[in-house]
Amino acid sequence: TLPIRIAPSVLAADFSRLGEEVRDVVEAGADWIHLDIMDGHFVPNISFGPDVIKALRPHTKAFFDCHLMIAPVDPYLEAFAKAGCDSITVHAEAGPHLHRSLQTIRALGKKVGVTLNPATPLSVFENVLDDIDLILIMSVNPGFGGQKFIPAMLDKIAAAKAMIGDRPIEIQVDGGITTDTIGAAAKAGANVFVAGSAIFGKGDKAAYRTEIETLRRNAET
Ligand code: DX5
Ligand code: ZN
Repeated sequence: TLPIRIAPSVLAADFSRLGEEVRDVVEAGADWIHLDIMDGHFVPNISFGPDVIKALRPHTKAFFDCHLMIAPVDPYLEAFAKAGCDSITVHAEAGPHLHRSLQTIRALGKKVGVTLNPATPLSVFENVLDDIDLILIMSVNPGFGGQKFIPAMLDKIAAAKAMIGDRPIEIQVDGGITTDTIGAAAKAGANVFVAGSAIFGKGDKAAYRTEIETLRRNAET
């Protein structure tokens, strides 16, 4: 089984000192850094682009887990790869040629992820299971941090787990993860947990550490 990974989303960090925030959260125990890219078109919010990732890259060796909420996505994959992303996750809803996007990410030498909005059925994964390293189950409608976890996504996580069988695919969950919701998501089968406001809403590095430790403990039990 794959390890538990805590992936703070910098969407909830202080954007005026992002480099320091990323260093702090890694020193506080984060496993991956989750980077939420929003285009104001696929989702109703705008965040940041590849140049910000490139600027962050020298600040840490941590794994950069990029969640692209953009459409179209294919024209931008190379820019995100070159900016220093380690994995690139695309939305199945972002275009008609998911398999082509996945092939492109693989050819760029990055870990390949696919994600689904809460209302999109898991069947979208069936024919690409051998082409991916990560499945992201969105547990809120993407676009904003600080939303409530949608409980129906627990069954979806469990069904995804059954569907992947013994393939070494990471199951990530994103949206509304807190010390209260992480245990159920872990029990359902997720091993990578994105948390934005739960971690960065806490103030300083010492508080990030406490929160990450509690999240990890609650995911393990
Ligand atoms: C939502 C983003 C999430 C978000 C999570 O569109 O994909 O990664 O930042 O934020 P919280 O943990 O606050 O729900
Ligand atoms: Zn995300």
